[in-house]
Amino acid sequence: VDKSVQVKLVLLGEAAVGKSSIVLRFVSNDFQANKEPTIGAAFLTQKCRLEDRVLRYEIWDTAGQERFHSLAPMYYRNAQAAVVVYDVTKAASLEKAKSWVKELQRQANPNIVIALAGNKVDLVTPSSSAAPPTPSPDGDDEPDDATATPGETPSAVAEVESLRQVPRDEAQAYATEAGLLFFETSAKTGEGVVEVFTEIAKKIPIE
Ligand code: GTP
Ligand code: MG
Repeated sequence: VDKSVQVKLVLLGEAAVGKSSIVLRFVSNDFQANKEPTIGAAFLTQKCRLEDRVLRYEIWDTAGQERFHSLAPMYYRNAQAAVVVYDVTKAASLEKAKSWVKELQRQANPNIVIALAGNKVDLVTPSSSAAPPTPSPDGDDEPDDATATPGETPSAVAEVESLRQVPRDEAQAYATEAGLLFFETSAKTGEGVVEVFTEIAKKIPIE
């Protein structure tokens, strides 16, 4: 018996924040460094397995370019879930995300589950070698790979950190106030991507 429930999910957000890349990571566990902009929208499906059930996401990946804005209601109408994406290295993209959230809260299904995703977090995460030393969790006395390497100078770390334009705390506070799930993600490394879809799935009511 196929117990899987269909869940219609829409992705919204400014152009080039990484909506299609998040979907590509979730559906194919893949990443393309030079992904072409979406025209209109793309449709993909992917199963999502929880402990007690399986959902089948029907994903509408919309185009972020402004000229496609008027198409969006077709895709979020009847959607049970939305992922609103911004780019942690671009403050203006969070403002755009907030305006999408407002539009969804006014015009979409009142029970829609909305997640806010701050993408491209790989661009602002110093490599583990640059993090302050911590006791090695494997308990051995061997130096782990993730110790200082040439080139990981403090100034390189500062440079990486300075790319961040949206502090995590600020976005988290906004998400909490607006009643959204919140994640930082990287379609490039995969960080946080599956979590977005599984945490949404857990909030979809069982019918
Ligand atoms: P539109 O379809 O125009 O709305 O754009 P989009 O939001 O679908 O963005 P897309 O997935 O096409 O990604 C835009 C660019 O950002 C591509 O060159 C991606 O390779 C890159 N990109 C996407 N996600 C990430 C990420 O997590 N990290 C990094 N470093 N680059 C990313
Ligand atoms: Mg796209």
